[in-house]
Amino acid sequence: MADTLTITDNRTGRTYEVDITDDTISAMDLRQIKVADDDFGMLSYDPGFKNTASTRSDITYIDGAAGILEYRGYPIEQLAEQSSFLEVAWLLMHGELPSQDEYDQWTYDITHHTFVHENMKDFIDGFHHDAHPMGMLVSTVGALSTFYPDAKDATDPETRHLQMTRLIAKFPTLAAFAYRHSIGWRPSYPDNELSFAGNFLNMMWKTTELRYEPDPVLAKAMDRLFILHADHEQNCSTTTMRTIGSSDADPYSAAAGAVAALYGPKHGGANEAVLRMLEEIGSVDEVPDYVQRAKDGEFRLMGFGHRVYKNFDPRAAVIKDLAHEVFEVTGKNPLIDIAVELEKIALEDDYFVDRKLYPNVDFYSGIIYQAMGFPTSMFPVLFAIGRIPGWLAQWQENLLDPEQAIARPRQVYVGERNRDFVPMSARS
Ligand code: CMC
Repeated sequence: MADTLTITDNRTGRTYEVDITDDTISAMDLRQIKVADDDFGMLSYDPGFKNTASTRSDITYIDGAAGILEYRGYPIEQLAEQSSFLEVAWLLMHGELPSQDEYDQWTYDITHHTFVHENMKDFIDGFHHDAHPMGMLVSTVGALSTFYPDAKDATDPETRHLQMTRLIAKFPTLAAFAYRHSIGWRPSYPDNELSFAGNFLNMMWKTTELRYEPDPVLAKAMDRLFILHADHEQNCSTTTMRTIGSSDADPYSAAAGAVAALYGPKHGGANEAVLRMLEEIGSVDEVPDYVQRAKDGEFRLMGFGHRVYKNFDPRAAVIKDLAHEVFEVTGKNPLIDIAVELEKIALEDDYFVDRKLYPNVDFYSGIIYQAMGFPTSMFPVLFAIGRIPGWLAQWQENLLDPEQAIARPRQVYVGERNRDFVPMSARS
């Protein structure tokens, strides 16, 4: 049987046959469907892109029904257990795990690109003392493009690789500088002797000690949290990264847009919202009442539900285990009891079961971050540090894909037409 779809337009009685490839039809094939020859042709209507594939990608595979997440074919559980964030970053960008030599060089390169221009400190100093670190990250990442005008030519593989190295290396530095500005501390400079995650903790927390020594359990946990966030195919911020990149804007500007998209509470801001929610609930006894109010439509349970996962979010399962490892070092975060009770009650409730609403990656990550000492405003920033390799891999794939063009959706215009302008004096 041919892989085609037959469409009959009942307005005209005409029949069209369109090809099916990988279970999809090309939206452009709908254009031939017209009532009159001078019609524009049929469009598909899909607000929020709920059923539209914008790309062919070989980076990240998700099976939302089965709760599967793979980067380049490797299950997230194995990567979180056995790999490191920098190795995963390489994997996402290059498609294969690095050899030992490649890995050593890559680690060296990242380590030696962590410094930012001193002017960046002045730039950050210009922010109000209580500026949100995510707002500062949006601006400072965008500002990086002014330091690297060579980034404009993304067609050259070497230049592209250099910008990607810089972005992955400098994200933690900008994040930590933003945090320290918000609490009135001088920046702590990168330490090249430390691991990627260990150095980030150093830039966050170093005070008077000559050399900051990160707790190995916390540094490892941080690294694994970054891995869990490293990519998630065509989500809101990645789509933003690809969309901005599709106009051939430099990757710093595109990444600033991606950070901005991640800022929203329905995306990367959800972990911050989860913590506020757990604090508002206050005690395990209040959970049933709170769940009822969510069911009544008063608000949504933050950290619950996902556009793609309709069974469970595999990242949430890894993070839940990670929480207990972190608590061994930091002491237990009392909010975990409220979270566990909330998950239990919601997972037994028909409202959540029928709508396939399960805890997502953000549900437990905030509790870990808080136990490690991060303020809630830093949660989406941590998400962004983890996600930058994914954004870059997707940006690069978009750039090199001959099927891609500048992103420019269509609309169905439903407004007024052909009105004569009415002077102010004649308006009622
Ligand atoms: N609490 C209560 N009800 C919910 C929730 C929730 N968290 N999420 C969805 N629903 C209900 C919603 O009201 C709707 O009910 P009905 O059919 O009666 O109108 C139904 O479930 C379907 O909701 P939807 O908005 O059509 O689903 P969506 O796929 O468009 O939204 C979502 C996905 C993640 C935006 C949404 O579930 C949500 O707002 N969750 C809370 C915010 C959150 O945790 N976001 C983090 C996402 S994971 C991190 C990331 O990848 O960014």
